[in-house]
Amino acid sequence: MESAIKMERNGRINIILQELPNQSERENKFRYNKQFALIDDLFSSFVGIETIKKTVKQIYATVYINEKRKELGMISNPQVLHMLFSGNPGTGKTTVARKLAEVYFELGILSKGHFIEAERADLVGEYIGQTAQKTRELIEKAKGGILFVDEAYSLARGGKKDFGKEAIDTLVKHMEDDHDDFILILAGYPFEMRQFLSINPGLESRFPFILDFPDYSLDELMEIANRMVLAREYRLSKEAEMKIRNHLYTELGKKHVNFSNARTVRNLIEDAIRKQAYRLVSTESYDPEQLLELTAEDIPLEKF
Ligand SMILES: Nc1ncnc2c1ncn2[C@@H]1O[C@H](COP(=O)(O)OP(=O)(O)OP(=O)(O)O)[C@@H](O)[C@H]1O
Ligand SMILES: [Mg+2]
Repeated sequence: MESAIKMERNGRINIILQELPNQSERENKFRYNKQFALIDDLFSSFVGIETIKKTVKQIYATVYINEKRKELGMISNPQVLHMLFSGNPGTGKTTVARKLAEVYFELGILSKGHFIEAERADLVGEYIGQTAQKTRELIEKAKGGILFVDEAYSLARGGKKDFGKEAIDTLVKHMEDDHDDFILILAGYPFEMRQFLSINPGLESRFPFILDFPDYSLDELMEIANRMVLAREYRLSKEAEMKIRNHLYTELGKKHVNFSNARTVRNLIEDAIRKQAYRLVSTESYDPEQLLELTAEDIPLEKF
């Protein structure tokens, strides 16, 4: 706001407050929707995942605008928020899904925000009729929150006669009927998920959100390592950091199927912490610097 001072003929001073256009433009540029900021904040412990954060913001915006339109008597288009997560091991599918339950609760999209993780055995029964009931009960429990079905393709494992098919049919039915306060997320590895969708035509189109979880780059894995270390109140010596980086570089180059992205990093850090503890107790060295630092000799590479 800028104030213009005008002296009038009767000697009174008038102060007129006026907004300069370029200034308000500047303010607008720095104004950031506070719910978008909340989403950024809730996901702040994650490295990367930019596309996922953007999708969540779009979902929130769509739900919000729908509400606004409804208030004004305009046609609102209820959103179906079920999702498919596809990504290699350790790319963050489960962790992101769990966080999403919290985010959606904070944004008022889900009423309870709890998270139920299920796998084939939780949905599929052993005799006729049991599967539909088991699946329905699980959906009932998940209402107001997220039902996350990991390795979803295992539901289609046994072919047409398998009860897994019944679980899929029951899920699909409830996806339609209860979509306003229940979110289903099916997750799995990319190749298997593609196969699963190809043998269940019509399924993919029921999921408006299909999220790919790409493998992490070397820099992202290093950032994840550093954050994991900091979160546990440790730090990596320069040599330790170098050793991890070199190791991950080699592993990424091999492109082998057992590489588990961020989980490989977590296991490595947790093992390093155990090695450091053993080293410190063996040498009876307990000063704060030593308690903090993970050194190159604590980085176990044989197993990883
Ligand atoms: N973007 C990230 N930033 C920080 N940590 C991450 C990130 N992604 C994953 N992690 C960490 O990596 C570990 C493995 O992640 P998660 O279990 O979610 O992977 P996943 O994709 O579900 O794997 P899987 O397919 O094997 O079940 C967790 O400890 C998680 O906290
Ligand atoms: Mg998982």
